Amino acid sequence: MSKPTITTTGGAPVPDNQNSVSAGPRGPLLLQDYQLIEKLAHQNRERIPERVVHAKGSGAYGTFTVTQDISKFSKARLFAEMGKTTEVFLRFSTVAGERGAADAERDVRGFSVKFYTEEGNWDVVGNNTPVFFVRDPVKFPDFIRTQKRHPSTNMRSPTAMWDFWSLSPESLHQVTILFSDRGLPQGYRAMHGFGSHTYSFINEAGERHWVKFHFKSLQGIRNWTNREAEAVIATDRESAQRDLYEAIEGGDFPRWRVCVQIMPEADADKTSYNPFDITKVWPHAEYPLHEVGILELNRNAQHYFAEVEQSSFSPSNIVPGIGFSPDKMLQGRIFAYADAHRYRVGTHYEALPVNRPRCPVTHYHADGAMLNDIPNRGDAYYEPNSFNGPVENDRFAEPPLKISGDADRYDHRVGNDDYSQPGALFRLMNAEQQKQLFGNIAEAMQGVPLDIVKRQITHFYRADKAYGLGVAEALGLSPGDLLADAAE
Ligand code: HEM
Repeated sequence: MSKPTITTTGGAPVPDNQNSVSAGPRGPLLLQDYQLIEKLAHQNRERIPERVVHAKGSGAYGTFTVTQDISKFSKARLFAEMGKTTEVFLRFSTVAGERGAADAERDVRGFSVKFYTEEGNWDVVGNNTPVFFVRDPVKFPDFIRTQKRHPSTNMRSPTAMWDFWSLSPESLHQVTILFSDRGLPQGYRAMHGFGSHTYSFINEAGERHWVKFHFKSLQGIRNWTNREAEAVIATDRESAQRDLYEAIEGGDFPRWRVCVQIMPEADADKTSYNPFDITKVWPHAEYPLHEVGILELNRNAQHYFAEVEQSSFSPSNIVPGIGFSPDKMLQGRIFAYADAHRYRVGTHYEALPVNRPRCPVTHYHADGAMLNDIPNRGDAYYEPNSFNGPVENDRFAEPPLKISGDADRYDHRVGNDDYSQPGALFRLMNAEQQKQLFGNIAEAMQGVPLDIVKRQITHFYRADKAYGLGVAEALGLSPGDLLADAAE
Protein backbone atom coordinates (compact mmCIF):
# COMPACT_ATOMS: atom_id res chain seq x y z
CA MET A 1 0.00 0.00 0.00
CA SER A 2 1.40 3.38 -0.86
CA LYS A 3 2.07 5.70 2.05
CA PRO A 4 0.36 9.10 2.23
CA THR A 5 2.37 12.11 1.07
CA ILE A 6 3.54 14.60 3.73
CA THR A 7 1.94 18.00 3.30
CA THR A 8 2.61 21.45 4.68
CA THR A 9 0.13 22.74 7.26
CA GLY A 10 -1.55 24.44 4.30
CA GLY A 11 -2.10 21.00 2.75
CA ALA A 12 0.40 21.27 -0.12
CA PRO A 13 2.41 18.08 -0.89
CA VAL A 14 6.06 18.17 0.25
CA PRO A 15 8.46 16.93 -2.46
CA ASP A 16 11.54 16.47 -0.21
CA ASN A 17 11.62 16.28 3.61
CA GLN A 18 15.35 15.40 3.86
CA ASN A 19 17.12 18.21 1.96
CA SER A 20 16.63 21.98 2.23
CA VAL A 21 16.67 24.17 -0.88
CA SER A 22 20.21 25.51 -1.29
CA ALA A 23 22.16 27.55 -3.81
CA GLY A 24 24.41 24.76 -5.05
CA PRO A 25 25.07 21.51 -3.15
CA ARG A 26 27.04 23.25 -0.37
CA GLY A 27 24.52 26.03 0.38
CA PRO A 28 23.67 28.67 1.57
CA LEU A 29 19.91 28.12 1.92
CA LEU A 30 17.16 30.05 0.18
CA LEU A 31 14.53 32.01 2.15
CA GLN A 32 11.90 30.74 -0.26
CA ASP A 33 12.14 27.24 1.25
CA TYR A 34 8.92 27.76 3.16
CA GLN A 35 8.70 24.06 4.08
CA LEU A 36 11.93 24.44 6.09
CA ILE A 37 10.75 27.74 7.59
CA GLU A 38 7.43 26.21 8.60
CA LYS A 39 9.17 23.30 10.38
CA LEU A 40 11.55 25.54 12.32
CA ALA A 41 8.91 28.15 13.15
CA HIS A 42 6.45 25.51 14.33
CA GLN A 43 9.07 23.92 16.54
CA ASN A 44 9.68 27.29 18.18
CA ARG A 45 6.08 27.24 19.33
CA GLU A 46 5.82 23.61 20.49
CA ARG A 47 5.91 24.33 24.20
CA ILE A 48 3.32 26.09 26.28
CA PRO A 49 4.14 27.43 29.75
CA GLU A 50 4.36 24.61 32.23
CA ARG A 51 1.87 24.61 35.11
CA VAL A 52 3.13 27.01 37.77
CA VAL A 53 2.74 24.12 40.22
CA HIS A 54 2.17 20.40 39.54
CA ALA A 55 4.17 20.73 36.30
CA LYS A 56 5.28 17.08 36.06
CA GLY A 57 2.42 14.68 35.60
CA SER A 58 0.90 11.57 34.07
CA GLY A 59 -2.65 11.00 32.88
CA ALA A 60 -5.07 8.35 31.68
CA TYR A 61 -8.74 7.82 30.84
CA GLY A 62 -11.14 5.48 32.56
CA THR A 63 -14.57 5.10 34.05
CA PHE A 64 -16.46 5.81 37.24
CA THR A 65 -19.12 3.21 38.08
CA VAL A 66 -21.76 3.73 40.75
CA THR A 67 -21.85 0.94 43.36
CA GLN A 68 -24.06 2.52 46.05
CA ASP A 69 -27.14 4.69 45.79
CA ILE A 70 -26.46 8.18 47.19
CA SER A 71 -29.20 9.93 45.23
CA LYS A 72 -30.86 10.96 48.51
CA PHE A 73 -27.84 13.23 49.12
CA SER A 74 -27.04 14.42 45.60
CA LYS A 75 -29.09 14.85 42.44
CA ALA A 76 -25.91 14.81 40.31
CA ARG A 77 -26.76 12.78 37.23
CA LEU A 78 -23.61 10.67 37.45
CA PHE A 79 -24.91 9.15 40.73
CA ALA A 80 -28.44 8.59 39.33
CA GLU A 81 -28.50 4.78 39.24
CA MET A 82 -26.52 1.77 40.37
CA GLY A 83 -24.09 0.53 37.75
CA LYS A 84 -24.14 3.80 35.81
CA THR A 85 -20.74 4.60 34.26
CA THR A 86 -19.22 7.99 33.47
CA GLU A 87 -16.04 8.56 31.46
CA VAL A 88 -13.17 10.15 33.42
CA PHE A 89 -9.69 11.54 32.79
CA LEU A 90 -7.25 11.52 35.71
CA ARG A 91 -3.97 13.44 35.92
CA PHE A 92 -1.46 12.68 38.67
CA SER A 93 1.45 14.97 39.43
CA THR A 94 4.21 16.04 41.75
CA VAL A 95 3.95 19.62 42.99
CA ALA A 96 7.25 21.44 43.21
CA GLY A 97 9.40 20.00 40.42
CA GLU A 98 9.49 21.32 36.88
CA ARG A 99 8.27 19.33 33.88
CA GLY A 100 11.54 17.36 33.72
CA ALA A 101 11.73 16.59 37.45
CA ALA A 102 12.20 13.03 38.67
CA ASP A 103 9.01 11.27 39.74
CA ALA A 104 10.39 9.56 42.87
CA GLU A 105 10.81 12.71 44.94
CA ARG A 106 9.40 13.43 48.39
CA ASP A 107 6.49 15.70 47.59
CA VAL A 108 2.72 15.85 47.72
CA ARG A 109 1.09 14.17 44.70
CA GLY A 110 -1.74 15.76 42.72
CA PHE A 111 -4.85 13.67 42.04
CA SER A 112 -7.13 15.45 39.53
CA VAL A 113 -10.21 13.74 38.18
CA LYS A 114 -12.42 15.07 35.40
CA PHE A 115 -15.83 13.36 35.30
CA TYR A 116 -17.43 13.97 31.88
CA THR A 117 -21.04 13.94 33.14
CA GLU A 118 -24.14 14.51 31.03
CA GLU A 119 -24.67 17.86 32.81
CA GLY A 120 -21.13 19.13 32.38
CA ASN A 121 -17.62 18.41 33.58
CA TRP A 122 -17.10 17.88 37.28
CA ASP A 123 -13.45 18.25 38.34
CA VAL A 124 -12.08 17.06 41.67
CA VAL A 125 -8.63 18.67 41.80
CA GLY A 126 -7.20 17.02 44.88
CA ASN A 127 -4.04 15.56 46.32
CA ASN A 128 -2.89 12.30 47.89
CA THR A 129 -3.33 14.00 51.28
CA PRO A 130 -6.56 14.99 53.03
CA VAL A 131 -5.21 18.34 54.28
CA PHE A 132 -3.10 21.25 53.00
CA PHE A 133 -0.26 23.54 54.19
CA VAL A 134 -2.22 26.80 54.46
CA ARG A 135 -5.85 27.67 55.04
CA ASP A 136 -6.10 31.10 53.42
CA PRO A 137 -5.51 31.52 49.66
CA VAL A 138 -3.67 34.79 50.25
CA LYS A 139 -0.80 32.66 51.60
CA PHE A 140 -0.60 30.27 48.64
CA PRO A 141 1.78 32.24 46.35
CA ASP A 142 4.23 32.76 49.24
CA PHE A 143 4.05 29.12 50.19
CA ILE A 144 4.78 28.06 46.61
CA ARG A 145 7.73 30.47 46.44
CA THR A 146 9.34 28.49 49.28
CA GLN A 147 8.90 25.25 47.33
CA LYS A 148 10.36 26.56 44.08
CA ARG A 149 13.92 27.79 43.41
CA HIS A 150 15.68 30.56 45.32
CA PRO A 151 15.83 33.70 43.13
CA SER A 152 19.64 34.05 43.40
CA THR A 153 20.99 30.53 43.80
CA ASN A 154 18.39 28.95 41.49
CA MET A 155 18.38 26.03 43.94
CA ARG A 156 15.63 24.72 46.19
CA SER A 157 15.98 26.24 49.65
CA PRO A 158 15.34 24.15 52.81
CA THR A 159 15.77 27.39 54.77
CA ALA A 160 12.87 29.02 52.93
CA MET A 161 10.67 25.93 53.40
CA TRP A 162 11.25 25.57 57.14
CA ASP A 163 11.18 29.31 57.73
CA PHE A 164 7.72 29.52 56.14
CA TRP A 165 6.40 26.36 57.80
CA SER A 166 7.72 27.33 61.24
CA LEU A 167 6.04 30.74 60.87
CA SER A 168 2.82 29.08 59.65
CA PRO A 169 1.89 26.44 62.25
CA GLU A 170 -1.28 25.56 60.34
CA SER A 171 1.08 23.66 58.00
CA LEU A 172 2.04 21.14 60.72
CA HIS A 173 -0.56 18.52 59.79
CA GLN A 174 0.47 18.43 56.12
CA VAL A 175 4.20 18.66 56.99
CA THR A 176 3.76 15.59 59.22
CA ILE A 177 2.22 13.66 56.31
CA LEU A 178 4.83 14.87 53.82
CA PHE A 179 7.77 13.65 55.94
CA SER A 180 6.05 10.41 56.99
CA ASP A 181 6.46 7.21 54.97
CA ARG A 182 3.46 8.33 52.85
CA GLY A 183 5.36 11.34 51.54
CA LEU A 184 7.11 9.27 48.89
CA PRO A 185 4.69 6.90 47.10
CA GLN A 186 6.18 4.17 44.90
CA GLY A 187 3.89 5.25 42.09
CA TYR A 188 0.55 6.87 41.38
CA ARG A 189 -1.30 3.55 41.58
CA ALA A 190 -0.03 2.96 45.13
CA MET A 191 -1.62 5.94 46.87
CA HIS A 192 -5.00 7.26 47.90
CA GLY A 193 -6.56 10.47 46.55
CA PHE A 194 -8.55 13.11 48.44
CA GLY A 195 -10.73 16.00 47.33
CA SER A 196 -9.36 17.58 50.55
CA HIS A 197 -11.83 20.49 50.60
CA THR A 198 -15.35 20.38 51.92
CA TYR A 199 -17.86 20.57 49.08
CA SER A 200 -21.64 20.30 49.18
CA PHE A 201 -24.19 17.82 47.92
CA ILE A 202 -27.65 19.11 46.94
CA ASN A 203 -30.53 16.66 46.54
CA GLU A 204 -33.78 16.89 44.56
CA ALA A 205 -35.56 18.37 47.60
CA GLY A 206 -33.02 21.22 47.68
CA GLU A 207 -31.36 19.98 50.89
CA ARG A 208 -27.63 20.57 51.40
CA HIS A 209 -25.08 18.27 53.03
CA TRP A 210 -21.38 18.98 53.37
CA VAL A 211 -19.17 16.35 51.78
CA LYS A 212 -15.54 15.26 51.51
CA PHE A 213 -14.32 12.95 48.72
CA HIS A 214 -11.89 10.05 49.22
CA PHE A 215 -10.34 7.74 46.62
CA LYS A 216 -9.00 4.56 48.22
CA SER A 217 -6.37 2.72 46.20
CA LEU A 218 -7.31 -0.91 45.57
CA GLN A 219 -3.66 -1.57 44.72
CA GLY A 220 -2.72 -0.83 48.34
CA ILE A 221 -0.27 1.76 49.64
CA ARG A 222 3.41 1.34 48.79
CA ASN A 223 6.09 3.90 49.61
CA TRP A 224 9.83 4.35 49.07
CA THR A 225 12.31 5.31 51.76
CA ASN A 226 14.62 8.19 50.85
CA ARG A 227 17.45 5.74 50.09
CA GLU A 228 15.24 3.54 47.90
CA ALA A 229 14.04 6.59 45.99
CA GLU A 230 17.60 7.76 45.38
CA ALA A 231 18.40 4.40 43.80
CA VAL A 232 15.26 4.61 41.64
CA ILE A 233 16.05 8.14 40.44
CA ALA A 234 19.61 7.14 39.58
CA THR A 235 18.29 4.89 36.84
CA ASP A 236 14.76 6.14 36.15
CA ARG A 237 13.42 9.68 36.41
CA GLU A 238 10.03 8.60 35.01
CA SER A 239 9.29 5.79 37.48
CA ALA A 240 5.68 6.84 38.18
CA GLN A 241 4.87 7.55 34.52
CA ARG A 242 6.36 4.18 33.54
CA ASP A 243 4.50 2.29 36.27
CA LEU A 244 1.13 3.80 35.33
CA TYR A 245 1.57 3.63 31.56
CA GLU A 246 2.85 0.05 31.51
CA ALA A 247 0.20 -1.23 33.92
CA ILE A 248 -2.57 0.19 31.71
CA GLU A 249 -0.94 -1.03 28.47
CA GLY A 250 -0.67 -4.51 30.05
CA GLY A 251 -4.36 -4.58 31.00
CA ASP A 252 -3.65 -4.29 34.74
CA PHE A 253 -6.12 -1.46 35.26
CA PRO A 254 -5.66 0.50 38.51
CA ARG A 255 -8.79 1.11 40.58
CA TRP A 256 -9.87 3.25 43.51
CA ARG A 257 -12.93 2.99 45.78
CA VAL A 258 -14.65 6.36 45.65
CA CYS A 259 -16.02 7.22 49.11
CA VAL A 260 -17.65 10.22 50.76
CA GLN A 261 -17.91 11.59 54.26
CA ILE A 262 -21.23 13.34 54.67
CA MET A 263 -22.13 16.00 57.26
CA PRO A 264 -25.66 17.41 57.69
CA GLU A 265 -25.66 21.15 56.88
CA ALA A 266 -26.50 22.22 60.44
CA ASP A 267 -23.62 20.21 62.00
CA ALA A 268 -21.15 22.78 60.67
CA ASP A 269 -22.14 25.08 63.54
CA LYS A 270 -21.60 22.36 66.13
CA THR A 271 -18.24 20.71 65.43
CA SER A 272 -15.36 21.67 67.73
CA TYR A 273 -13.24 22.38 64.63
CA ASN A 274 -14.07 24.45 61.57
CA PRO A 275 -15.26 21.86 59.01
CA PHE A 276 -14.32 24.27 56.19
CA ASP A 277 -10.67 24.47 57.28
CA ILE A 278 -8.53 22.47 54.84
CA THR A 279 -5.83 21.89 57.47
CA LYS A 280 -8.26 19.65 59.36
CA VAL A 281 -9.77 16.21 58.71
CA TRP A 282 -13.24 15.17 59.81
CA PRO A 283 -12.93 12.33 62.34
CA HIS A 284 -14.07 9.10 60.67
CA ALA A 285 -15.72 7.97 63.91
CA GLU A 286 -18.14 10.89 63.59
CA TYR A 287 -18.41 11.00 59.80
CA PRO A 288 -17.69 7.51 58.43
CA LEU A 289 -16.77 6.73 54.84
CA HIS A 290 -19.59 5.67 52.51
CA GLU A 291 -18.64 3.98 49.27
CA VAL A 292 -20.13 5.59 46.18
CA GLY A 293 -18.44 3.84 43.30
CA ILE A 294 -15.31 2.52 41.65
CA LEU A 295 -12.90 4.54 39.57
CA GLU A 296 -10.88 2.57 37.04
CA LEU A 297 -8.19 3.78 34.64
CA ASN A 298 -8.12 1.69 31.48
CA ARG A 299 -6.86 3.76 28.54
CA ASN A 300 -3.61 5.65 28.09
CA ALA A 301 -3.58 8.97 26.33
CA GLN A 302 -2.64 8.70 22.67
CA HIS A 303 -0.69 11.96 22.62
CA TYR A 304 0.93 13.26 25.81
CA PHE A 305 0.94 16.93 24.81
CA ALA A 306 -2.56 17.03 23.34
CA GLU A 307 -4.21 15.21 26.20
CA VAL A 308 -2.10 15.28 29.39
CA GLU A 309 -0.26 18.59 28.99
CA GLN A 310 -3.31 20.44 27.72
CA SER A 311 -5.69 18.90 30.25
CA SER A 312 -7.11 21.69 32.38
CA PHE A 313 -8.77 20.96 35.70
CA SER A 314 -10.59 23.48 37.84
CA PRO A 315 -12.41 23.29 41.17
CA SER A 316 -14.86 25.74 39.56
CA ASN A 317 -16.12 22.89 37.36
CA ILE A 318 -19.10 21.60 39.32
CA VAL A 319 -22.41 20.15 38.14
CA PRO A 320 -25.97 20.32 39.47
CA GLY A 321 -26.12 18.35 42.73
CA ILE A 322 -22.53 19.21 43.71
CA GLY A 323 -21.61 22.64 45.08
CA PHE A 324 -18.93 24.62 46.86
CA SER A 325 -18.59 25.42 50.57
CA PRO A 326 -17.36 28.44 52.54
CA ASP A 327 -13.81 26.93 52.62
CA LYS A 328 -11.62 30.00 51.97
CA MET A 329 -9.01 28.00 50.05
CA LEU A 330 -11.65 26.51 47.79
CA GLN A 331 -13.05 29.99 47.18
CA GLY A 332 -9.58 31.18 46.08
CA ARG A 333 -9.14 28.18 43.82
CA ILE A 334 -12.49 28.79 42.12
CA PHE A 335 -10.84 31.85 40.60
CA ALA A 336 -7.23 30.67 40.17
CA TYR A 337 -7.52 27.62 37.92
CA ALA A 338 -9.63 28.77 34.97
CA ASP A 339 -7.55 31.95 34.98
CA ALA A 340 -4.38 29.83 34.81
CA HIS A 341 -5.78 27.82 31.89
CA ARG A 342 -6.67 30.92 29.88
CA TYR A 343 -3.04 32.00 30.21
CA ARG A 344 -1.31 28.59 29.96
CA VAL A 345 -3.45 26.93 27.30
CA GLY A 346 -5.58 29.68 25.77
CA THR A 347 -9.00 31.31 25.77
CA HIS A 348 -10.76 28.32 24.24
CA TYR A 349 -9.02 25.66 26.36
CA GLU A 350 -12.33 24.03 27.20
CA ALA A 351 -12.99 23.18 23.55
CA LEU A 352 -9.88 20.97 23.30
CA PRO A 353 -10.65 17.24 23.02
CA VAL A 354 -9.45 16.30 26.54
CA ASN A 355 -11.33 19.16 28.18
CA ARG A 356 -14.44 19.25 26.01
CA PRO A 357 -17.62 18.29 27.87
CA ARG A 358 -19.32 15.17 26.50
CA CYS A 359 -22.67 17.00 26.59
CA PRO A 360 -23.99 19.90 24.49
CA VAL A 361 -22.32 23.22 25.34
CA THR A 362 -24.51 26.26 24.78
CA HIS A 363 -22.91 29.56 25.82
CA TYR A 364 -22.42 32.94 24.16
CA HIS A 365 -18.62 33.22 24.42
CA ALA A 366 -17.11 33.17 20.94
CA ASP A 367 -14.23 35.39 19.87
CA GLY A 368 -10.68 34.92 21.12
CA ALA A 369 -7.52 33.25 19.86
CA MET A 370 -7.98 29.83 18.21
CA LEU A 371 -11.75 29.60 17.98
CA ASN A 372 -12.08 26.18 16.35
CA ASP A 373 -15.82 25.68 16.13
CA ILE A 374 -17.92 27.99 13.99
CA PRO A 375 -20.73 29.43 16.12
CA ASN A 376 -24.03 29.32 14.26
CA ARG A 377 -26.46 31.27 16.40
CA GLY A 378 -27.38 33.72 13.65
CA ASP A 379 -28.92 36.78 15.27
CA ALA A 380 -28.92 35.20 18.75
CA TYR A 381 -25.32 36.12 19.59
CA TYR A 382 -26.15 37.99 22.84
CA GLU A 383 -28.56 37.31 25.70
CA PRO A 384 -31.42 38.00 26.32
CA ASN A 385 -32.55 37.92 22.70
CA SER A 386 -35.74 37.46 20.67
CA PHE A 387 -34.19 34.89 18.32
CA ASN A 388 -34.57 31.59 20.22
CA GLY A 389 -31.06 31.53 21.69
CA PRO A 390 -30.35 29.41 24.80
CA VAL A 391 -31.80 30.72 28.07
CA GLU A 392 -31.25 30.16 31.79
CA ASN A 393 -33.18 27.53 33.72
CA ASP A 394 -33.89 28.10 37.42
CA ARG A 395 -34.35 24.36 37.88
CA PHE A 396 -30.58 24.34 38.43
CA ALA A 397 -30.48 27.03 41.12
CA GLU A 398 -28.90 26.02 44.43
CA PRO A 399 -30.80 26.50 47.70
CA PRO A 400 -29.74 29.73 49.45
CA LEU A 401 -26.81 29.46 51.86
CA LYS A 402 -27.09 31.38 55.10
CA ILE A 403 -23.96 33.40 55.85
CA SER A 404 -23.39 36.07 58.45
CA GLY A 405 -20.72 38.30 59.94
CA ASP A 406 -18.99 41.59 59.33
CA ALA A 407 -16.70 41.85 56.31
CA ASP A 408 -13.21 41.98 57.80
CA ARG A 409 -9.81 40.27 57.76
CA TYR A 410 -10.12 37.66 60.51
CA ASP A 411 -6.96 36.23 62.05
CA HIS A 412 -7.28 32.55 61.14
CA ARG A 413 -4.92 31.55 63.98
CA VAL A 414 -7.19 32.89 66.71
CA GLY A 415 -9.01 30.03 68.43
CA ASN A 416 -7.67 27.51 65.95
CA ASP A 417 -5.97 24.38 67.24
CA ASP A 418 -3.09 23.53 64.90
CA TYR A 419 -1.61 20.82 67.12
CA SER A 420 -4.22 18.21 68.13
CA GLN A 421 -4.74 16.58 64.74
CA PRO A 422 -1.01 16.39 63.83
CA GLY A 423 -0.37 14.98 67.34
CA ALA A 424 -3.08 12.35 66.86
CA LEU A 425 -1.61 11.42 63.48
CA PHE A 426 1.86 11.09 65.04
CA ARG A 427 0.48 8.76 67.72
CA LEU A 428 -1.16 6.59 65.03
CA MET A 429 2.29 5.82 63.59
CA ASN A 430 4.16 2.76 64.82
CA ALA A 431 7.68 3.12 66.23
CA GLU A 432 9.32 2.38 62.89
CA GLN A 433 7.17 5.00 61.09
CA GLN A 434 7.93 7.59 63.79
CA LYS A 435 11.65 6.88 63.40
CA GLN A 436 11.37 7.37 59.64
CA LEU A 437 9.51 10.64 60.24
CA PHE A 438 12.29 11.95 62.54
CA GLY A 439 14.98 10.92 60.05
CA ASN A 440 13.21 12.38 57.01
CA ILE A 441 12.70 15.71 58.78
CA ALA A 442 16.28 15.82 60.06
CA GLU A 443 17.61 15.17 56.53
CA ALA A 444 15.41 17.88 55.07
CA MET A 445 16.59 20.38 57.71
CA GLN A 446 20.28 20.14 56.84
CA GLY A 447 21.78 23.62 56.52
CA VAL A 448 18.77 25.41 58.01
CA PRO A 449 19.70 28.12 60.57
CA LEU A 450 19.31 26.99 64.19
CA ASP A 451 16.70 29.58 65.17
CA ILE A 452 14.38 28.31 62.41
CA VAL A 453 15.01 24.68 63.37
CA LYS A 454 14.27 25.52 66.98
CA ARG A 455 11.04 27.30 66.09
CA GLN A 456 9.85 24.31 64.08
CA ILE A 457 10.80 21.76 66.74
CA THR A 458 8.67 23.75 69.16
CA HIS A 459 5.66 23.04 66.90
CA PHE A 460 6.47 19.32 66.77
CA TYR A 461 6.79 19.33 70.57
CA ARG A 462 3.44 21.04 71.00
CA ALA A 463 1.80 18.37 68.84
CA ASP A 464 3.43 15.62 70.90
CA LYS A 465 6.46 15.83 73.17
CA ALA A 466 7.89 12.62 71.68
CA TYR A 467 7.59 14.14 68.20
CA GLY A 468 9.69 17.20 69.16
CA LEU A 469 12.22 15.17 71.13
CA GLY A 470 12.54 12.59 68.35
CA VAL A 471 13.34 15.20 65.69
CA ALA A 472 15.78 16.97 68.03
CA GLU A 473 17.59 13.72 68.68
CA ALA A 474 17.72 12.86 64.97
CA LEU A 475 19.35 16.25 64.44
CA GLY A 476 21.88 15.56 67.22
CA LEU A 477 20.58 18.50 69.23
CA SER A 478 20.21 18.81 72.98
CA PRO A 479 16.52 18.75 73.86
CA GLY A 480 16.94 20.77 77.05
CA ASP A 481 18.24 23.83 75.26
CA LEU A 482 15.98 23.54 72.23
CA LEU A 483 12.74 23.06 74.04
CA ALA A 484 13.03 25.82 76.60
CA ASP A 485 10.36 27.85 74.78
CA ALA A 486 8.04 24.95 74.04
CA ALA A 487 7.84 23.76 77.62
CA GLU A 488 6.56 27.12 78.81
C1 HEM B 1 -2.50 23.06 39.95
C2 HEM B 1 -3.31 27.27 42.17
C3 HEM B 1 -4.35 24.94 46.28
C4 HEM B 1 -4.13 20.74 43.89
C5 HEM B 1 -2.59 24.40 40.21
C6 HEM B 1 -2.35 25.44 39.26
C7 HEM B 1 -2.60 26.62 39.88
C8 HEM B 1 -2.96 26.33 41.23
C9 HEM B 1 -2.52 28.01 39.27
C10 HEM B 1 -1.93 25.23 37.81
C11 HEM B 1 -3.15 25.05 36.95
C12 HEM B 1 -2.81 24.86 35.49
O1 HEM B 1 -1.98 25.60 34.97
O2 HEM B 1 -3.42 23.95 34.86
C13 HEM B 1 -3.69 27.00 43.47
C14 HEM B 1 -4.10 28.00 44.43
C15 HEM B 1 -4.37 27.34 45.60
C16 HEM B 1 -4.15 25.92 45.34
C17 HEM B 1 -4.19 29.49 44.16
C18 HEM B 1 -4.83 27.86 46.92
C19 HEM B 1 -5.56 28.92 47.07
C20 HEM B 1 -4.43 23.60 45.99
C21 HEM B 1 -4.96 22.60 46.87
C22 HEM B 1 -4.89 21.41 46.19
C23 HEM B 1 -4.32 21.69 44.88
C24 HEM B 1 -5.50 22.85 48.27
C25 HEM B 1 -5.31 20.05 46.61
C26 HEM B 1 -6.18 19.81 47.55
C27 HEM B 1 -3.67 21.03 42.63
C28 HEM B 1 -3.48 20.02 41.61
C29 HEM B 1 -3.01 20.68 40.48
C30 HEM B 1 -2.92 22.09 40.81
C31 HEM B 1 -3.74 18.52 41.76
C32 HEM B 1 -2.66 20.04 39.14
C33 HEM B 1 -3.90 19.96 38.26
C34 HEM B 1 -3.59 19.17 37.01
O3 HEM B 1 -3.34 17.95 37.14
O4 HEM B 1 -3.56 19.76 35.92
N1 HEM B 1 -2.93 24.96 41.42
N2 HEM B 1 -3.73 25.77 44.05
N3 HEM B 1 -4.05 23.02 44.80
N4 HEM B 1 -3.32 22.26 42.11
FE1 HEM B 1 -3.52 23.99 43.08
